[in-house]
Amino acid sequence: MPSCRFFLIAFVPVLFIYFIVPPPRPKRPLCPQRKPTYVPGESLILGISLSASYGTISMRNANGFFTDIGRIDGDGDYVAMMRRFSSISSSHPAPPYDGMEEQWDDQPRQWLRDARKMLFLPASSDVRRLSGLARSLVHLARSQAAPHASIASVVISYPALPGVFAEDIIDTARYLSLPQLSGGHGYPPRTLISSYAGHGMGLCASYYNASRCREEGLDHPVRSTLLVDYTSSTILMHAESMREAYGTANSDIDVSTWFLSPTSERINSDADELVRRKLLSEMVVELLNRKWERFRGPPEPLEDITVLLTGNPDDIDVDQARKRMEEAVDKAGFKAQMYHSNPEFIASQGAAEMAWRALTLHI
Ligand SMILES: *[C@@H]1O[C@H](CO)[C@@H](O)[C@H](O)[C@H]1NC(C)=O
Repeated sequence: MPSCRFFLIAFVPVLFIYFIVPPPRPKRPLCPQRKPTYVPGESLILGISLSASYGTISMRNANGFFTDIGRIDGDGDYVAMMRRFSSISSSHPAPPYDGMEEQWDDQPRQWLRDARKMLFLPASSDVRRLSGLARSLVHLARSQAAPHASIASVVISYPALPGVFAEDIIDTARYLSLPQLSGGHGYPPRTLISSYAGHGMGLCASYYNASRCREEGLDHPVRSTLLVDYTSSTILMHAESMREAYGTANSDIDVSTWFLSPTSERINSDADELVRRKLLSEMVVELLNRKWERFRGPPEPLEDITVLLTGNPDDIDVDQARKRMEEAVDKAGFKAQMYHSNPEFIASQGAAEMAWRALTLHI
């Protein structure tokens, strides 16, 4: 029978590890990043946007134009996952951590993810669902391009929700063996950032030189930006002060979300449409007040809000939605600068542009 002293002594290393040894460092990929294979005119440069209920994919051509390849709706399982992600209770510590305590708390979950990845499984069941839609989108792109075309660079953008993290998106791309290159865009971008880039905002001219690009970025104007991703069954809003189109993975996000209750039919009656429009307006006013109320007064009152609209024009009346949002921003005491062109693909185009820019730093 081991003595009490034995246990005390045996416990010392445990204490030592907890208080003295820092938690394991964030992992680098097992295999170092290889130089991407890029054959001009043949390799695919892809941008994927995953949203609350659908995903879209665009391709960036060498001549600077984009090809919008297609859109795939998520299945019930996917939408249910996004609904779960939208709840605050689905939030948990995830890298990048705020402190050592947080990292220790998260370590068991990371070990489990690592174990799954070592067995060539998706890092979590959520990553499996995200990968499902992303894989279908990549298949779609492959089927439209040359069948054996290699993929040179991919950026996946994802919705700003409390329960989905940059690590999930990184692991999704890794599980599908998609080349995600480190570039000037930071972490995988959220939809607001990819749409912002899709409209040509926050992008430097000398993107082939990382340090000059960063210098240039400091001269971009700061824009108070509101993203509204609007479909007949989901509304996602995200507000952020933007300068460069740069993904940060911070967990402190200002969002507002609405999901059609799973039991109700898809909305199509006029009465329901009216309810939804009212809801849209209320959500805009509430979120803008929450985010920028205190900037309304002196010394320099905030006036303009850059509003980015995404969604599917077959599903919503874009002109109506635009008017509705202009009114709502006005009601909140600001002035809207609307960006609503190509609402379906603007986020995947922005992601594709980021994928291209990352590639130029590697070739
Ligand atoms: C990149 O830009 C920096 C700063 O402007 C400059 O010093 C450097 O020479 C540039 N590098 C290349 C490879 O052009």
